[in-house]
Amino acid sequence: MRTSKPVFRDSEYGLWNVFRYEDVKRVLSNFKEFSSQFGKAFNPAGGPISESIINLDPPRHTKLRNIVSRAFTPRSVEKMEPAIREICENLLSVHRDGKFDIVKEYTSPLPVTVIATMLGIPVKDMNKFKRWSDNVVGGSESNYAEFPAIMKEMIEYFRKMMVEREKEPRDDLITAIINAEVDGDHLSELESLGFFILLLVAGNETTTNLISNSLLCFDENPGTMNEIRSDKGLIPRAIEEVLRYRSPVQSIYRVAINDTEINGVKVPAGSIMVPWIGSANRDESIFPDADSFDINRKENRHIAFGEGIHYCLGAPLARLEGKIALETLLEKYHMITIDRNSPIVPQDSTIVYGLKELTVK
Ligand code: HEM
Repeated sequence: MRTSKPVFRDSEYGLWNVFRYEDVKRVLSNFKEFSSQFGKAFNPAGGPISESIINLDPPRHTKLRNIVSRAFTPRSVEKMEPAIREICENLLSVHRDGKFDIVKEYTSPLPVTVIATMLGIPVKDMNKFKRWSDNVVGGSESNYAEFPAIMKEMIEYFRKMMVEREKEPRDDLITAIINAEVDGDHLSELESLGFFILLLVAGNETTTNLISNSLLCFDENPGTMNEIRSDKGLIPRAIEEVLRYRSPVQSIYRVAINDTEINGVKVPAGSIMVPWIGSANRDESIFPDADSFDINRKENRHIAFGEGIHYCLGAPLARLEGKIALETLLEKYHMITIDRNSPIVPQDSTIVYGLKELTVK
C-alpha cells in the first residue's frame, strides 16, 4: 500500500488510511490540521475516555498533560526500578515444570501491577483492571458490544476511589489528579475519570505486547538471543528494534479539520484518518531492509510511541519495564525458547499488535 495506494479511503467504513512514514508523522503531529477530538463523532459510546488527554487538542490537552507528566519523566520512572524488578522476580518465582504461557503468567500481569501501584489501587483488583483494559483497547466487534457495560463498571469503581481519596489523600496518582488545578479550577469529574481510565488502559496491553513480541523476535533470530544474553547492555537497543519491527500500536485515529491534501490525494474536512504506525515503521525509504529484524541498525527513527504533542507519556516506563522484564527472564532461565507445537495466538485487533497466548519452554 505504501507504493500503490499511500493514501487510501476504504469503501466499507469510509476511513482514510495513511501508510508512508512522512505522511503518518504529519497526521500524528500536526494538530492544527488533524484533531484528536474525534471521540464523540467516532465513538458513539462516548464516556470519559473521550474527555482524556489522548482525545483532546491544545490548549486543554497541554494543561491536563502537565498534571501528570512529571510522574512519567525518565528520572521519576527510574525510581520505580526496584519495584518493577521485584514484581518481575515474584512473577517468575512460581515453580513451573516444563512449558507455560508467558503472556498469562508474566508479560500480562507485569504492567497492570505497575500502573495499579502508581495509581494507588489495590493489587487484589488486578483481574478486574486487566479485563477492563483489554476490552477498551481491544478493537474487535466483540469488544465494542461489551464496551458500554465495561465503562459503567470502571466509572463506578473509580468514583468510589475518588471519594476515598477526598477523605484520605495519599501519595499516589489518583490523589494528584483529583487535587490538581487548571486555571484555578479542579478537573471535571469526567476529566478525572478519563485520566484514570487512560492511564490504566494505555500502558497495559501495549507493554505486554512489547515484551511478548520481543520474545517472538528473539526466538526467530537466535543470533540476537545469544548476543543479548552475553551482553545485557544490548537489551535497550533490541527493544527499540522490536518496537519498530512489531509495533505494539499499529494504528491511531485523527479527524481532518479542513479540506487538505496528502501526497496529492484530496481529503475532505471531517474525514476520519488512520495513520498506520506499523506501516510507517516498515517504510523502506527510511529503514533500509525494513522487513529484517536487526538490533544493530544504524539509525532507528521508529515512531512506535507516536509523534508530536501526543507522544506517549508512558514511553520511559514501557522501556524500563521491557528492559527489566527481559533481564529478569534471562537471569532466571539459561535457555528459553518458544514451544512451536503449542498455538501462538495473535491479538484480534487492528489497533494493537501482539499475542494473546505464547507458550515457552
Ligand atoms: C499515547 C504507544 C505504553 C500512556 C501513546 C501513543 C502511542 C502510544 C502510539 C500516541 C497516541 C496518539 O498520538 O494519539 C505506546 C506503546 C507502549 C505504550 C507502544 C508500550 C510499548 C504506555 C504506558 C503508559 C502510556 C506504559 C502509562 C502508563 C500513554 C498516554 C498517552 C499515550 C497517557 C496519551 C498522551 C497524550 O495524548 O498526550 N502511547 N504506549 N503508554 N500513552 Fe502510550
